[in-house]
Amino acid sequence: MSVTATAYPNIALIKYWGKRDDALHLPETSSLSLTLGVFATVTTVTVSDELAADSVTVAEVPAPPRFAARVTGFLDLVRDLAGDRRRAQVCTVNTGPTGAGLASSASGFAALAFAASGAYGLDLDRRALSRLARRGSGSASRSIYGGFAQWHRGEGSGAAGDLSSYAEPVEAPRLDPALVVALVDAREKAVDSREAMRRTVETSPFYRPWVQSSEQDLRDMHTALAAGDLAAVGEIAERNALGMHATMLGARPAVRYFSPGSMRVLDRVLALRAAGVAAYATMDAGPNVKVLCDRRDSAEVAAALAETDSAIRVLVATPGPGAAVSGLGESSADDHR
Ligand code: PMV
Repeated sequence: MSVTATAYPNIALIKYWGKRDDALHLPETSSLSLTLGVFATVTTVTVSDELAADSVTVAEVPAPPRFAARVTGFLDLVRDLAGDRRRAQVCTVNTGPTGAGLASSASGFAALAFAASGAYGLDLDRRALSRLARRGSGSASRSIYGGFAQWHRGEGSGAAGDLSSYAEPVEAPRLDPALVVALVDAREKAVDSREAMRRTVETSPFYRPWVQSSEQDLRDMHTALAAGDLAAVGEIAERNALGMHATMLGARPAVRYFSPGSMRVLDRVLALRAAGVAAYATMDAGPNVKVLCDRRDSAEVAAALAETDSAIRVLVATPGPGAAVSGLGESSADDHR
């Protein structure tokens, strides 16, 4: 049985940063994101009687051992659910940069959850797929859905926590947003998000205050989304992201993902705002900057970011679809460099 699935990355406007359960990937906070229409991951899973071990390729070359082990661990979860011990061949292709804070793990594990559950004959609804994708990478729980999605932290530990921690779509019909992605550096990050989160939760004195303020940010974000107030959505997203990076700076030793190039892009975003353009920045576990704006302003924002000497590539992403079985969904990328 062979199943191919496609999923897109999502960028959190209210961030997920820190787990209360490392094994089950139960987060400390709820988070809220926008799924993009660019940088899809396409993954094929083929279950076979003939394989002695799982085989994993990325872009047609054997996956690095650490990544292959993560995929095998994920397939073990699917095999347990299906009661099927057969091994599988996993072929995955990322159309965006991997491990550079552009959510390749989100699109990757969302696509793998769809393809592997299908290939092992499981018939899971979206909530169950979101919980399954969460076990691969927390943020993947949100890429099951297109547009805006909220991942609920869930309540309790163990099975109760596992059952209550999943993503759901969030409607925002009055918004027509775009995220302009400024690629500052497409290389893989030095500290992976798992390790960085763990270090932040265990050692940063700024972590708990951020968790508390994030709860308020999430409530304010729902109000702003329902009102279709892009400026408020952007302000809340920007403060939530900068707060998350502040928690990392407080970790011992500190984790810092932004670079001088990121700062130049952030300065440019401030200059755009001073000139009356509603543009707001967010950053993840890498130096790249994503700028939220109205779709109508996206060409102007992209042109301004492309002028900075730190952006090696700038592209406009609009909301993308949820994960789906088979085929590459429509991409809405407009490349500006
Ligand atoms: O799911 P992970 O382990 O790749 O963590 C992602 C964390 C951030 O991208 C920094 C924030 C988020 O909510 O996506």
